[in-house]
Amino acid sequence: MESFRTIVFREDHVEVIDQTKLPSTLHYVMIHDEQEAFTAIRLMQVRGAPAIGMIAAYGLYLGLRKHATKSVDEFFDIVQVQSEWLKSARPTAVNLAWAIDRLTRVAWTQKSSEVPAILAVLRREAVAIQQEDEQACRTMGERLLDFMADGMGILTHCNTGALATSQYGTALAGFYYAHEQGLNIHVFADETRPVLQGARLTAWELQRAGIDVTLICDNMAATVMAQGKIQAVMVGADRIAANGDTANKIGTYQVAILASHFNIPFYVVAPWSTIDAETVSGAAIPIEERPAKEVTEWGGVQIAPSDVNVYNPAFDITPRELITAIITEKGIYKPPYHFS
Ligand code: MRU
Repeated sequence: MESFRTIVFREDHVEVIDQTKLPSTLHYVMIHDEQEAFTAIRLMQVRGAPAIGMIAAYGLYLGLRKHATKSVDEFFDIVQVQSEWLKSARPTAVNLAWAIDRLTRVAWTQKSSEVPAILAVLRREAVAIQQEDEQACRTMGERLLDFMADGMGILTHCNTGALATSQYGTALAGFYYAHEQGLNIHVFADETRPVLQGARLTAWELQRAGIDVTLICDNMAATVMAQGKIQAVMVGADRIAANGDTANKIGTYQVAILASHFNIPFYVVAPWSTIDAETVSGAAIPIEERPAKEVTEWGGVQIAPSDVNVYNPAFDITPRELITAIITEKGIYKPPYHFS
């Protein structure tokens, strides 16, 4: 198991690893309210679908504590404004809206209580989201053992590990479990341009756990597959539409096409909170566009002409036809996808 905690709740603030500083520095950011949560999510100090949901939930609760003396009506007006604003921090991962909606729903069930009592319920709910995430990741990890065998090569994209969740991760949870069981698996991690979550985060956490990980550039995936080094692809998800189309980190779609070409199974691993039953297909999933500087600069160094046109979508949609199975804590889903 990994030797760090990504998110630690300390009652008057929440601590989260600053992922922009990895792999060189393990540093925690302190979040005291919704403003600091918004900033940490927007700047990707905290990232990964489940992790941003948890930080948004804690941020909302912590910020609302400042309004304990307001009337119930005033309090609910603030809840409404802050919830909508927090949801806008990053639009693609549905876990963010899911966590905020879960808190606001539970607040409404207490409408006839005093504000301090409502706050107590919000605190409990935010903590429950984190505890449930930990349990869900554990279950997904156990389920993934059925898809792994000794000596297998597995390609992953972006970071779906302990850094992206409360513990263990989604797809990476399977690698932690396989390692614990003594299975000798070889993980290939795409570096994941432009923000390099694979290089900076996945390689860091797997190496730290003693798991055999080999870093490759994104444009090497076809070569390692053609060389017979990959027997499965396992990735996470930011939003899964009702028909199984899956939004995940940009570059996932091309990996899925390659896997199909080489007849390699392609698995999506995500908690139930990533399934968006309201969104019929991938076409309706909003795709975040990120600043051009992520592409034209690295570590403050310019690597492209500063005024060049840049297109920087942060996610893509993998059509359901390319997905062999979707593994959640509730069960394993195969085409045609009906989540219930
Ligand atoms: O932009 P990011 O780094 O937040 O994107 C994250 C991903 O795409 C992950 O693969 C996904 O959230 C799964 S996290 C368990």
